[in-house]
Amino acid sequence: MKSRKFRVGLIGGGGIAQAVHIPGWKNLPDVEIVGIADVSEATAVKAAAAAGGVKTFSDYRDLLKLDLDAVDICTPNKVHTPAALAALGAGVNVICEKPLAVSTAEVREMGKLADKNKLKLMTAQHQRFTSSAVAAKAWVDGGNMGEPYHARVRAMRRAWLPPSPGFIDAKLAGGGPCMDIGVHALDLCLWLMDFPKPVRVSGTAKTVFAKGHDMPNQWGEWDRERYTVEDFATGIVHFDNGATLLLEAAWMCHQVEDEELLAQIFGKKGGLKWPSADFATVTNGAFAQGTLKSPVSVPHPHWNEIAAFVDCVKNGKPSPVPWTETIKVIGILEAIYASSAQGKEITLKL
Ligand SMILES: NC(=O)c1ccc[n+]([C@@H]2O[C@H](COP(=O)([O-])OP(=O)(O)OC[C@H]3O[C@@H](n4cnc5c(N)ncnc54)[C@H](O)[C@@H]3O)[C@@H](O)[C@H]2O)c1
Repeated sequence: MKSRKFRVGLIGGGGIAQAVHIPGWKNLPDVEIVGIADVSEATAVKAAAAAGGVKTFSDYRDLLKLDLDAVDICTPNKVHTPAALAALGAGVNVICEKPLAVSTAEVREMGKLADKNKLKLMTAQHQRFTSSAVAAKAWVDGGNMGEPYHARVRAMRRAWLPPSPGFIDAKLAGGGPCMDIGVHALDLCLWLMDFPKPVRVSGTAKTVFAKGHDMPNQWGEWDRERYTVEDFATGIVHFDNGATLLLEAAWMCHQVEDEELLAQIFGKKGGLKWPSADFATVTNGAFAQGTLKSPVSVPHPHWNEIAAFVDCVKNGKPSPVPWTETIKVIGILEAIYASSAQGKEITLKL
């Protein structure tokens, strides 16, 4: 007898859903996309066609009435929490785009509900599934780094400001580059550091260019009135083991690189840069360095991320990106905003 396929519904069928999530789900033979919910009818119809002509819904609560194994949330950031809570409350497993939520209170609420209902909750941090990240993780797990004592995280763009309201309106986005791209490099860095516990954060978040007209934007014009998030943020983080981390994130700045996404970790035995996967160490008293080769080739990190989620649901494995890790990432970003608003260092109790 043919076994039932894994049934998934998408909440939010816009850019990232159409570009990588729908192809990633369609790539899996034992999976069926059964419906797409989007508040924009035109987007829902377009995404549904790309998914193979599936049902569309304007309200995700109607999508949840289908007999689903999982939902994949690809909405603006501020919709992640209500959509995830509704799904988890209805007994449905959740994979959700980054940032999982824009506050630790929301991450905790989602995580506790998932745990209570014995459901999987995974943050879609696809950078963990890139070849260079897999190589870096294997090198760290092999004991080559030793204890990390400092790290640098950069997510700095020269002029790639995403103009759609879901990114620039604080009511929908909950944060600017810190939440949008800082979250990628920070998650990767903390993962390679084995998630030490952040205890103190001092930071600044401000809008330097986005309210003005001096910067050309590679993604075109944006609504200055509606622009209510930062375009630059920086922070210093102290961990309970004495390690420190410096973070910088921007959608616009004067630098020659289009984008620099970097996690650089300094350990007592060796140092490592991602995504270049360059390492530096000392062997028999002499400097040694090189570029790590990935043990696997990953042509589609988003697809691998989706496959890992399905595997964890089907086979009862732990979430590949659990909320207990994500809460440390969001806790740091949230504290940068709080520190900036309050003008003082924030003590974290995660
Ligand atoms: N991992 C990555 O590399 C990556 C890249 C881009 C975006 N993202 C993340 O994906 C998410 C979506 O980004 P995007 O670029 O696809 O944005 P988008 O604006 O293109 O798509 C979002 C869609 O959500 C829909 N939506 C809004 N409110 C909704 C609701 N209540 N119910 C159902 N649908 C709703 C919108 O109509 C829109 O079609 C964001 O959280 C973003 O941070 C991740």
